[in-house]
Amino acid sequence: MAIDMKGKNLVSINDLSREEVTQILETAEIIKLRHYSHEEQSILKGKVLGMIFQKPSLRTRVSFETGMIQLGGQAIYLSPDDIKLGQREATKDISRVLSRYVNGIMARTFSHGIMLELAKYSSVPVINGLSNLLHPCQVLGDLLTVKEKKDRLSNLKLAYIGDGNNVAHSLIFGAVKVGMDIVLAIPPGYEPKEEIVNLAKEDAKKINSRIEFIQDPKEAVDGADIIYTDVWTSMGFEKESELRKDVFKSYQINQDLVNRAKDDVIILHCLPAHRGEEITDEVIDGPHSVVIDQAENRLHAQKGVLALLL
Ligand code: CP
Ligand code: NVA
Repeated sequence: MAIDMKGKNLVSINDLSREEVTQILETAEIIKLRHYSHEEQSILKGKVLGMIFQKPSLRTRVSFETGMIQLGGQAIYLSPDDIKLGQREATKDISRVLSRYVNGIMARTFSHGIMLELAKYSSVPVINGLSNLLHPCQVLGDLLTVKEKKDRLSNLKLAYIGDGNNVAHSLIFGAVKVGMDIVLAIPPGYEPKEEIVNLAKEDAKKINSRIEFIQDPKEAVDGADIIYTDVWTSMGFEKESELRKDVFKSYQINQDLVNRAKDDVIILHCLPAHRGEEITDEVIDGPHSVVIDQAENRLHAQKGVLALLL
């Protein structure tokens, strides 16, 4: 039976049950199929999504806006200069006022605390479109991509190589939700936050999935079904960029590394990519890379989220 998710926030994948994650992915698959059959879908007719951005975006902005339009609704883009979140007025006032105008709020923030405050004071669903801590919508799109390419989500080994950042955090939560094993190779000092790993480990016990840390990227990708990486320097950390290039240089996804994984390995990257840093041109443009399908699936996965929550 369908689970009623109307009015729920999506701040973290960890806040969702396994069944809810499955329902989002299945809803996304149905909506995607209908989209490709040119069926008009108007499930969000008359609904408006307010989109607050403190940071730049291509995929998140365009996929949410397009998703709302394709489901019969509309979206309003609020740039960093429009409302000056955290500067012009109290976040709780923004959240309470915006809730009176729109049917859902999607936000991209620096601090995760601001995301939580928006969610606390909003009377409409708040969807996390990336904070410094998490990027749940990215990972829902990623899971949809893996399901399409591998026909399953469990009993797969995902090797994440690189920074223990927002994407890595959500990926850990997402992997254990669906029973995928995740192995991470991350330089010392850049590991994911301990509280995230501990929460995910609790969840992992229930489904028998594995979270493992391996120092050596080569060992981590041995026999992997999926290799995933992200930029070495996330938005907001630009001052550390030169230092990070040095620290992370042996964590690059190149052909030698890909050759150690399974023959049918798929390469994921949330994009934007810094070609020649965390991933080579040869790999990102090579036959194992599915990054453009992955980017497309942001649209479909988020339509699933919007259809269920708004
Ligand atoms: N992957 C992702 O969130 O891309 P944008 O920063 O372009 O939205
Ligand atoms: N970790 C990256 C993801 C961008 C989509 C960042 O936060 O900049």
